[in-house]
Amino acid sequence: MVAVRVKNLTKKFGSFVAVDHINLEVESGKILAFLGPNGAGKTTTIKMLTGILFPDGGGMEILGVKDPYPSKEIEVKKRIGLVPEEPKIYPYFRGYEFLNFIMDIYECDERTEERMEDLIGAFNIDYLDKFISDMSHGMKQKLLLVSVLMREPEIMFLDEPTVGLDAKSAKILKIFLKRLAENGKTVFMTTHILEIAERMADEIVIINKGKIIAKGTMEELRKQAGEEGTLEDLFLKLTGEEEEVKRILEELGK
Ligand SMILES: Nc1ncnc2c1ncn2[C@@H]1O[C@H](COP(=O)(O)OP(=O)(O)OP(=O)(O)O)[C@@H](O)[C@H]1O
Ligand SMILES: [Mg+2]
Repeated sequence: MVAVRVKNLTKKFGSFVAVDHINLEVESGKILAFLGPNGAGKTTTIKMLTGILFPDGGGMEILGVKDPYPSKEIEVKKRIGLVPEEPKIYPYFRGYEFLNFIMDIYECDERTEERMEDLIGAFNIDYLDKFISDMSHGMKQKLLLVSVLMREPEIMFLDEPTVGLDAKSAKILKIFLKRLAENGKTVFMTTHILEIAERMADEIVIINKGKIIAKGTMEELRKQAGEEGTLEDLFLKLTGEEEEVKRILEELGK
């Protein structure tokens, strides 16, 4: 089954086209790494796919539901999860109150609660009685990850999920995501850490200035670029930043 299908999806801010007629498909059970330089349009795309921003053109199908927002919003949002770029969560909840709140609104069962306990242990979360406003960035990020992972949604949209995580937590997250994908869940993830994409992703999509400039498996991308380099080399080449990086290095070396 195709979990996410996007056709000519477009978003404009005034006359600026942030996402420009993009097309992509993600099969269920796959991990997609959505890559691109700062400002390329990754977050804007995720916002459209999760019903936060309304597109200006094109369409999407999420879990077989055609153009779900806003008419089938609740139906689809029950089945997906989002970890946004910034862990902005209710500052006056304590950690456990936030998790209970999520359990309530998603009408979660005991199995979810068991998974929540496991995740709290795995991520070493011993600060659930703190107010969210008093948590560090990484602490909030882990809490948010638990609130999404515990539900095991059919698609998880993760916008730079490892930012702020310590090495152990990042490793735990990667293990959990791999396991979820093995169980048929879909992961749609942005990251600037190309090594994560290289190691984890079944599919890689690269966006630059709102347009998709490459997509495929790691092997297909290598072929496309006609070289046996790392994803980093490939990425810089495709986004046209290779020359720029060389120039900066030369400048710095002076
Ligand atoms: N609400 C908005 N109003 C105006 N412009 C916006 C808005 N949101 C995003 N943009 C612009 O759209 C472009 C894409 O932004 P987006 O946040 O999608 O980038 P990104 O690929 O997620 O970048 P990063 O890697 O830095 O997170 C940028 O030029 C940004 O300034
Ligand atoms: Mg972003």
